[in-house]
Formats: sequence, structure tokens, C-alpha cells
Amino acid sequence: MDLHDLPPPLLQVRQLCKSYPAPRRHWLALPAQQRVLNNVDFELHAGRCLGLVGASGSGKSTLARLILVLESPTSGQVLLDGQDLHRLPAAALRPLRQHMAMVFQDPATALNPRRSVGWSIAEPLTAHGNLAPADIAQRVAQALEHVGLHPHDAQRYPHSFSGGQRQRIAIARAIITRPRLLVLDEPVSALDVSVQAQVLNVLLQLQQELGLAYLLISHDLAVISHLCHHMLVLHAGEVVESGSPQQLQRAAHDPITQALLRSVPTITPGAARQRYAAHHNQ
Ligand SMILES: Nc1ncnc2c1ncn2[C@@H]1O[C@H](COP(=O)(O)OP(=O)(O)O)[C@@H](O)[C@H]1O
Ligand SMILES: [Mg+2]
Repeated sequence: MDLHDLPPPLLQVRQLCKSYPAPRRHWLALPAQQRVLNNVDFELHAGRCLGLVGASGSGKSTLARLILVLESPTSGQVLLDGQDLHRLPAAALRPLRQHMAMVFQDPATALNPRRSVGWSIAEPLTAHGNLAPADIAQRVAQALEHVGLHPHDAQRYPHSFSGGQRQRIAIARAIITRPRLLVLDEPVSALDVSVQAQVLNVLLQLQQELGLAYLLISHDLAVISHLCHHMLVLHAGEVVESGSPQQLQRAAHDPITQALLRSVPTITPGAARQRYAAHHNQ
């Protein structure tokens, strides 16, 4: 394929920097800045999964908040379809927000315990759009089926589901506006190991069905290897390594990546994706 035939990236992150005011060590000290992200650069195409791995405090969640325009960068750009999200006027940004959604580590963030699951899943639609109630109910039923749950589950309340099911419901809520990019911040870290693979497989299947792009954040290389075509290693706010999980396992340059890889002896990069493809016989 000719290089010019490639569609432009869905997401481009360019020279992104973020600083926060550092805590003052002494009352006479000058106000200082703590740099949390430093010149982060990457691209993500539709239908692809990019893994972002790094130790706690390396800046992963900050990067997610900047991409979803929940916070502003100190400098640099986040482009969606070539549009610089942080420089758009609010009216132009509002429709673009529907193209992106986030799944958090703890599904409780997305689910109101006092409301039915259907209400919580529908909320991103009811908050913005003007769809008829019957259309909303149909979209909720579809979303539940997409994550392997039953449309009748819409009437139940979050407490009656298991942790893995609650995370599926949070994923249903994230896809209800039909986004093109999902940012998944440690989506299975809070789940039992036995349930983690089920939720990852739901994500894998959704990606195939809907052509979603994923930015998958995790401190767990086994999780990244399960889903991602390409991965970045973030250390103290800088991208220190970039490649496929297989490439990095063979030849990581960076000592931090090497240490990360050594700490996960059991991973077989891409194995789940191959098993999945074989099973579904594409
Ligand atoms: N709102 C904030 N104000 C000040 N410092 C922050 C804020 N958010 C994050 N930080 C700091 O930024 C660094 C990176 O945090 P974070 O992005 O949450 O890392 P990760 O998700 O990789 O664990 C940490 O040192 C954290 O203390
Ligand atoms: Mg985090």
C-alpha cells in the first residue's frame, strides 16, 4: 500500500507537556513547577490499540485527562482528526467530545448506586442529545448486548452485579455515544485475575465489531500484551521506549523497560489476539 493511502491518524499527541505547581519545601522558597509530562509524542489510528505502560506516578492518568480535554496542557497539542482540541472554541469542541470516552479502574466512578444500570448507561446520551426515550432504550439494550449482558439487565441496580459485570456496564456506558476512541485507564486492575481475561476479551471483541481505537493504560505488561499492537513506556513523564510488545520483549533498549519485562515472566505477547482470531476464523 502506498504511504499516501493511509488514513490520517485519529489521534495525534504532539510535544505534550504538563507541569503542576510543586509543593513548597520552605516558606521562603520560590514557587516551583513539577513537570509531569515532557514532550510526549505519538499517533493512534482507527481500529488500533496503543498500550501505555509505566510505573505509578509516571504521568499516565494525566496524559489521559489531557487527551479527553478534562485539563489543559502547559504546551503541546492533542489533535483529533487533525483538529487541535485544546485550541477549539467550546461550541466546536462539544460535538467532538462525543467521539471520545473513558473507562476507569473503578466502575463505581461511572455508575450511580441509586439509579438503574440502564439510567447510568443512558446518561451520556440524555445529557447531550435529544433522542426519543424509545430510541435511548434501544441504544441501551444494544450496548448491553455488545458487552455480553442481557437487555433486561437495564432495570437492575449496580449492587446486584459482580465486579466484572459492573466493569462491563461501565464499558457499555462508554460506548453509548458511539465514540471512536476509548481511553481505558487500568480497566481490569481492580478485578480478580480470573475475571480480568473475560473483560479484556469483551474489549477485544468490541474493537473488532465497532472499529474502535483504544489507548490502554496499565502498569501490567501482560494486560498490554493481550490487546495492543504497539506500546509506549512512560517514565517520569517521558516516552522512553516505543514498539510492539513482541519487539520490546526481544530488545528493549531502556533499563526501565527491561526491568518491567523481567517482572512479568509469563507473558506471551499477542497470544490472546491470535487465539481470538483463530477462534473466530477471520
Ligand atoms: N492535579 C494535580 N496537581 C498536582 N500534581 C499532580 C496532579 N495530578 C497528578 N499530579 C502528579 O503528577 C504525577 C503523575 O501522576 P499521574 O498522572 O496520576 O500518574 P499515573 O497515572 O502514571 O500513576 C504524580 O507525581 C502526581 O503526584
Ligand atoms: Mg493513574
